[in-house]
Amino acid sequence: MKTFTTISETKNCVSGFKKAGKTIGFVPTMGALHKGHLILLERAKKENDIAVSSIFVNPLQFNNKEDLEKYPRTLQEDAKMLEIAHCDVLFAPGAEEMYPSEPHPQPFSKGEGSLLDLGMLDKVMEGAQRPGHFQGVCVVVKKLFDIIEPDRAYFGEKDFQQLAVIKHMVKMLKLSAEIIPCPTVREEDGLAMSSRNTLLGSNERKSAPLIFKTLSEANEKRKNLSVAELGKWVEEQINASPFLKLEYFEAVDSETLVPVSSWNESKNIRACIAVKAGTVRLIDNIAF
Ligand code: PAJ
Repeated sequence: MKTFTTISETKNCVSGFKKAGKTIGFVPTMGALHKGHLILLERAKKENDIAVSSIFVNPLQFNNKEDLEKYPRTLQEDAKMLEIAHCDVLFAPGAEEMYPSEPHPQPFSKGEGSLLDLGMLDKVMEGAQRPGHFQGVCVVVKKLFDIIEPDRAYFGEKDFQQLAVIKHMVKMLKLSAEIIPCPTVREEDGLAMSSRNTLLGSNERKSAPLIFKTLSEANEKRKNLSVAELGKWVEEQINASPFLKLEYFEAVDSETLVPVSSWNESKNIRACIAVKAGTVRLIDNIAF
């Protein structure tokens, strides 16, 4: 595996592969890698000649300094895992390399001429809870796509709203990368794998599987309950744990992410949840 910290070296290397007619599969990450990330990489490797990954904890997509500072950073272990998973190129830049002229990076602003209208996509759920988060994700993913120029890019359904936002960006900016959604990888007890799981205290970790259990049971329960009634039921289940607190539960249309108020409003409903486990925010979702 070739590892680079600069944009120019990465561009040089990847464009060499492209000139030789190789296809590029790309997996952007923020590191602290787990099996969920590696499955994306394995898929990228299987479906393309060259697998490229990036590790960059993007300050633009964090809403508060504390969350950014405590985000786990395990670059050496990550690089080993990627090597074992047959990653060909790792791009692991520092913040200066990605945002040289922006000592205090800001989300997209009209002044930069780079405003991307995300419509409802960043007004609901994570968008409402974390203002500017998805604009920050778009800025960094667009920059990474410009550097890597992937044929295909792999994103997890674990971050369902992010996936919808990226698909929207690719469509609006007419980018050439094909976006490949990948199913959520879970721990044996059902908890969706996440870099943030390592930050959980032991009580919170033991309680966290209740999130997926509740989502799964909600899919059965909804046959006899209205959307509003189901929302109340989910809240009761999650908040019954002294270590968990429901932030939101929404049943939304899978494409538009607009919350539904009755079950027949959409043919493809996604149930999305965010829960505070101590100081750690966990998100999950399933198809209804
Ligand atoms: P990160 O949280 O590191 O996730 C990188 C990719 O791995 C994302 O596409 C995410 O959805 C996927 N992923 C994480 N956990 C997963 C799981 N349990 N199962 C399947 N896929 C999983 O998402 C980001 O980084 C950043 O926002 C990024 C896109 C890199 C932009 O900074």
